[in-house]
Amino acid sequence: MTSRVAILISGSGSNMVALAQSMAGDHPGRPCLVLSNDPQAGGLAKAQAMGIPTAVVDHRPFRGDRAAFEAAMLEQLDAAQPDLIALAGFMRVLTADFVRRFEGRMLNIHPSLLPKYKGLDTHARAIAAGDAEAGCTVHEVTAALDDGPILGQARVPILSSDTPETLAARILPYEHQLYPLVLRRVLAGERAPIALP
Ligand code: GAR
Repeated sequence: MTSRVAILISGSGSNMVALAQSMAGDHPGRPCLVLSNDPQAGGLAKAQAMGIPTAVVDHRPFRGDRAAFEAAMLEQLDAAQPDLIALAGFMRVLTADFVRRFEGRMLNIHPSLLPKYKGLDTHARAIAAGDAEAGCTVHEVTAALDDGPILGQARVPILSSDTPETLAARILPYEHQLYPLVLRRVLAGERAPIALP
């Protein structure tokens, strides 16, 4: 039986595309919905071009009423009946209530070597700290931000010439490798962390 995967985005959706493209052939998953909190998210058109149903729940009219925002997202998700949710550049913090509904069934990609640099500006913080390497992490989502069990990491050296932008650009292709790899493993029941390269 194939698993239905909903992908949540806020931006350009390059990780969403990598995940969606990977779900073909004998892959155990299929994308059932791409949901964005931003009507301008570039990923929406990419999903539509791939024939994936899309929905938008703009967070702005909810103005700090996170429960109401999440209830509106849940309506869309309930209609799509996902077995698994993949956060792919989704930039809203989710409440514990929302996370609990999808316990063990929600993944996230974060652009740092967690547990280092939870939250924002990860690349700038890694450079400022003088770290020798940076990277990305796919993890299970739990109520605490960027904190759930690690399912996979890719490591990338930091060069002395790096800016946050050059480092982010060098890490992104690793995100596109790591996330599909972890998704496939998780759908096959494998949760032992993997390392790239
Ligand atoms: C990715 O680098 C992802 O790791 C990051 O946002 C970018 C989204 O790019 N996610 C976070 O910072 C989550 N806290 P994309 O829209 O092209 O996939």
